[in-house]
Amino acid sequence: MSGNLLTDNPALYEARFPDPDRLAGRWTEDCLRRHGAGRRVLDLGCGTGRDAAWLHDAGREVTGADLSQAMLAHARDQHPGPVYVRADLHGFDLGQGVFDAVVCLDSALLYCHTNDQLDGFLSSCRRALVPGGLLVAEMRNGAYFLGRTDLLDTPRSNEFVWQGTVHRSVTTLTVDRTEQLLRRRRVWTTDDGSSPPVEQRSAWRLLFPQELRHLLAAHGLEVLELHDGPGPRTELPWHEGLFPGRTTDADRLHLVARLESEES
Ligand SMILES: C[S@@+](CC[C@H](N)C(=O)[O-])C[C@H]1O[C@@H](n2cnc3c(N)ncnc32)[C@H](O)[C@@H]1O
Repeated sequence: MSGNLLTDNPALYEARFPDPDRLAGRWTEDCLRRHGAGRRVLDLGCGTGRDAAWLHDAGREVTGADLSQAMLAHARDQHPGPVYVRADLHGFDLGQGVFDAVVCLDSALLYCHTNDQLDGFLSSCRRALVPGGLLVAEMRNGAYFLGRTDLLDTPRSNEFVWQGTVHRSVTTLTVDRTEQLLRRRRVWTTDDGSSPPVEQRSAWRLLFPQELRHLLAAHGLEVLELHDGPGPRTELPWHEGLFPGRTTDADRLHLVARLESEES
């Protein structure tokens, strides 16, 4: 069986990746505030709408965009407030200069697998942003896998209870050096055998910090922060008052970049 159990079941996604303290939303708001972003925010690859709604409640005017209709339906129902639209991060047109910030959380940016898709994403962000607008992103760090294999090749099990049933997942990560992708194979089973095993395959671009800097500069985006933590998903999690680090060595990458204004 194949499918995308998580994006097809947004409630399951939130149960598997809980964020009870809304760290992702709070970290994003902190970045936006520190760099003086205006109110209008596009959350691209917004998933269940959890962070988009948090930013809305913090006083922002938020549009959440995703490719998955199931995610969008869940977001509209469970996390109202933002406007939710279907858009492809490989290339989208939601208007010119209509957002003060684009945010892209939990590796959504890495669903741009090819250079063309990355260019499509960044030129779309450039069109969407006002001059001086921000791009805030949080994702896996490709550089982490240089010389480290601790997360690779060995199946890892996880289980949790959802709607009274134990769900088990066995996940294996492998590096595809030719495509420069981190590939993930995950097999889901339930302890009561109520549904057959579901195999889910996905992949993230292995994007390296210096490669990212080069791409951003080519699209008129100046890097303000690029670091491996603290952030919402780092081993020592971010909290208010902590400042960005200076290294890009650990497994998460945090980016704040500013679209150059016309006169600069
Ligand atoms: C790992 S989830 C992150 C969701 C959310 N940003 C969060 O932090 O909870 C990645 C999201 O990206 C969406 N996605 C994947 N490919 C996409 C694409 N090409 N365009 C727009 N969204 C995409 C998926 O549907 C999913 O909701």
